[in-house]
This record gives sequence, C-alpha cells and structure tokens, in this order.
Amino acid sequence: MRSSLARVLEGYEQAAAEAEERLAAAADIGAVADIERDLLGRRSRFTAAKRQLGDLDPGERAEAGRRLNAARQRVETSVAAARTRLTAAARADRHAAERLDLTERLPQAAPLRRGSFHPVTQARDRLEDVFIGMGYTVAEGPEVESAWYNFEALNIPEWHPARGSFDTIFVNLGEPEQVMLRSHTSPVQIRVMENRKPPIYIVAPGRTFRADTADATHLPAFNQIEGLAIDRNITMGDLAGTIDEFVRAFFGTEVKSRLRPSYFPFTEPSAEFDISRPDGSWLELGGCGMVHPNVLRNCGIDPEQWQGFAFGFGIDRLAVMRHEIDDIREFVNNDVRFLSQF
Ligand code: DAH
Repeated sequence: MRSSLARVLEGYEQAAAEAEERLAAAADIGAVADIERDLLGRRSRFTAAKRQLGDLDPGERAEAGRRLNAARQRVETSVAAARTRLTAAARADRHAAERLDLTERLPQAAPLRRGSFHPVTQARDRLEDVFIGMGYTVAEGPEVESAWYNFEALNIPEWHPARGSFDTIFVNLGEPEQVMLRSHTSPVQIRVMENRKPPIYIVAPGRTFRADTADATHLPAFNQIEGLAIDRNITMGDLAGTIDEFVRAFFGTEVKSRLRPSYFPFTEPSAEFDISRPDGSWLELGGCGMVHPNVLRNCGIDPEQWQGFAFGFGIDRLAVMRHEIDDIREFVNNDVRFLSQF
C-alpha cells in the first residue's frame, strides 16, 4: 500500500474513533449533521481515500476497501445513534413544554371550610328525632291560615279575649281578619284530626308569626313545635311523663321539668311547663293540656271514646337555652362568626 493512502486510512480511522465521542457529546441535531458532513461528505477524508482506492493493486485495494468501509460504518452507526438520542430528547422537551396540567388542587394553606346547619334547624331536627323515637310521626301545615284553623276549631270563637293575646298578623285577603299568618302551630292539630282516625301521635314543627317587636327574647317570626296524642284512656300523667322524657332526651338527665296550672281555650285542664336552669330558676317553655272536648268534636272525634293531650313550645327558645345565647336576635342576624360556632 502506498504510504500516502496508508496515512489517509490511518487518519480516517482515527477520526472515526474520535467522532464516536464527539457524536455522543453533541448537543443538537445540527452538530450531528456537521460531524456527519465532516466525516462522510464530499470533501471528507473518506471521499478522498475512496478516490485513491482506484489507484491500488487489486490485492491491496481489497484490504484498504475493507478498512475504509469498517471505519465508515462505525461513523454511520454513531451518527444514527446520536440522531435517535437527540430526536427523543427533543420530543420529550416538547411534550414537557406542551403539557396541560388538568389537576386542580386547593393550596394547602386553605383547608376545606365546611358549613353547618343553623342552630334552630339543628334543634328542630333533634326534637323530631326524640319524638320519632317515642313513636310519633312528623306533620305539617300551611303558614298562612284561616280563622277556622288558627282560632275557631281550637275553641277560640270570635268574641274570645284570647284572640287579642296572640297579636295576630292578618293577611289582606278575603273578609277582614279571616286570613292570617298562623300565630301558633296548634292549627296543625285540627288539620291532622280532620284527616286521620285515632290513635294519633304527631309532632308538627314550623314557623309561626306574631306582631311582636324583636327584643332579646322575642322574634316576630319564630318556630314552634306542636305535639298531639289522641288515644283511649290518655291521662294528664301520660302528658307529664312525655314532657319529662323529651326534656331529658333533649337536654340530658340534669334538666328537670314541671307543670304549672294555666289556661288555654283548647285544653282542659291546661298547664304551662317549665324547665330547670343550672342556677336553680325555672324557664317557661310552652303550654300543654288535655285536648278540650269541643276541639275533638270540631274534628269529628267522639270525646266519649277518645282523649288526648297536646303541647306546644318555642324551638328558638329551646336553642337559646341549650347554647346559653343571651339574645335570640342572633339567630336572624346572619353573622357567620356567630353561626360558625354551631
Ligand atoms: N299554642 C299555644 C301558644 O302558642 C301553646 C300551646 C298551649 C299549645 C297548650 C298546645 C297546648 O298544644 O295544649 O301559646
């Protein structure tokens, strides 16, 4: 082999070996193309060496050709590997740049804030649960009532002085003073007795209205719960026991209840019931009594066969008592700092 070709071949083999390292370090596709042109292009030493092969004897040519091809293949393999590596890296970069983050997460500093039911709603739900546990069902009636349901059927005729004590809010509809916002939940007693046959055991919670100025212990729109039990041989003892049982279930065993004789047109005898406060004093909670025979008759129930008791009291007052709140108006101020305590 002529020495000039031998030098060219050796130089090329050397360059091919170096190219492997340069290609492995190439940072982008452009650098790979430069190296490729340098080593395999028209003006490369490879092309020059190939040209010189024609001048050699056939024997020498085969040997030189084999070496040149081996070096070329080495370069081509390294170029292909570098291209594959860089194309994959470029694709990965592009995917990372184009990636859409579809997850939504609240910043860790702001924990989930949960709401809660209004304390009056909580008290109502709990009362319902206590009475359902005693075998009662829940009944409902309308908030706008007629004089029949709100007064007359409850043994409060037009002339009765008790009508005045209710501070009724009338609705400007029909005959004067015949349609009103219900001033108590007692009309639900009438609606239930008209529609069902005894035995009857119901409670009826709901909103009630009176022309009262709001103060620490009164709201013009407030909530009551009515109870009605009609069965055979019901006595005042059943009434006292029921009230005692509910007070205990609602407040716990340390709270006591007592009945005081009173007057309501729809019960005879009638009583008011109080519950004991931690300081030993008594708080008036509501009224109760044995359902008046006139009321039973007004609903088509024979008082000779059926007797019953009824009671009614304010749910808001119960919630005030339970949570030791000084001013009942807090319930309607809608101040979240107050409400979030329950
Ligand atoms: N309805 C009466 C009121 O609002 C409370 C009441 C008293 C209800 C006696 C009753 C009862 O069922 O028997 O003042």
